[in-house]
Amino acid sequence: MNFQLPLIAPSILAADFSELGSNIQDAIEGGASWIHCDIMDGHFVPNISFGPNIVKAAKKSAPEAFIDVHLMIENPDQFVESFVQAGADLISVHYEATHHLHRSIQNIKKYGLMAGVVVNPATSLHNLEPILEDVDLVLIMSVNPGFGGQSFIENSYQRLTELAKMRDEGDHGFLIQVDGGVNLKNAKKVADAGADILVAGSGVFSAQDIGTRYQELQEKLGE
Ligand code: DX5
Ligand code: ZN
Repeated sequence: MNFQLPLIAPSILAADFSELGSNIQDAIEGGASWIHCDIMDGHFVPNISFGPNIVKAAKKSAPEAFIDVHLMIENPDQFVESFVQAGADLISVHYEATHHLHRSIQNIKKYGLMAGVVVNPATSLHNLEPILEDVDLVLIMSVNPGFGGQSFIENSYQRLTELAKMRDEGDHGFLIQVDGGVNLKNAKKVADAGADILVAGSGVFSAQDIGTRYQELQEKLGE
């Protein structure tokens, strides 16, 4: 993996599904290299989104993109293989959704993919300490998962900084991702707090001109 960090990862949850391919292409033309796919099952989170077929369609419309799959589902281990087959490059599972986190991470890695762990806003980061050496990415939810378009929870800045400190102190190599409520106003502050990958759904796809919005967001990070 060779990306210039920090970067914005557009979440297709906020795309127009009747024009998914062209929405994704617009983001790619604006400079996007990651595509974030939010998988919701109506059990772990109170909403249903989409499954492997849409991930496969995303991959098909942007074969060069890095496909980042965020599983907000119960029994994640059971579905990993279908997302591998759909073209995922990274699969992340919620700390709160699996009883055997270490097994879930190893199960993703056995397919040669990157493996991530996700924490909800009310989960202490210290619960992650035993798994930090095994993961490629830690995703801090900056909203309660389930819906796009929510407001960024303010204490997420502190959590990002705390996680960055844990990474330094433990000499770990994982990427730090943040998800929810990222927009033009806060993107720079979020990156400065420690995020390497900033997921943005409505912040990208609700724009009239998706490519230009992507570029504007990405430029904020370099200011
Ligand atoms: C929330 C999802 C997010 C969501 C972000 O459950 O995990 O990825 O799409 O959407 P915005 O950027 O609109 O908050
Ligand atoms: Zn997500």
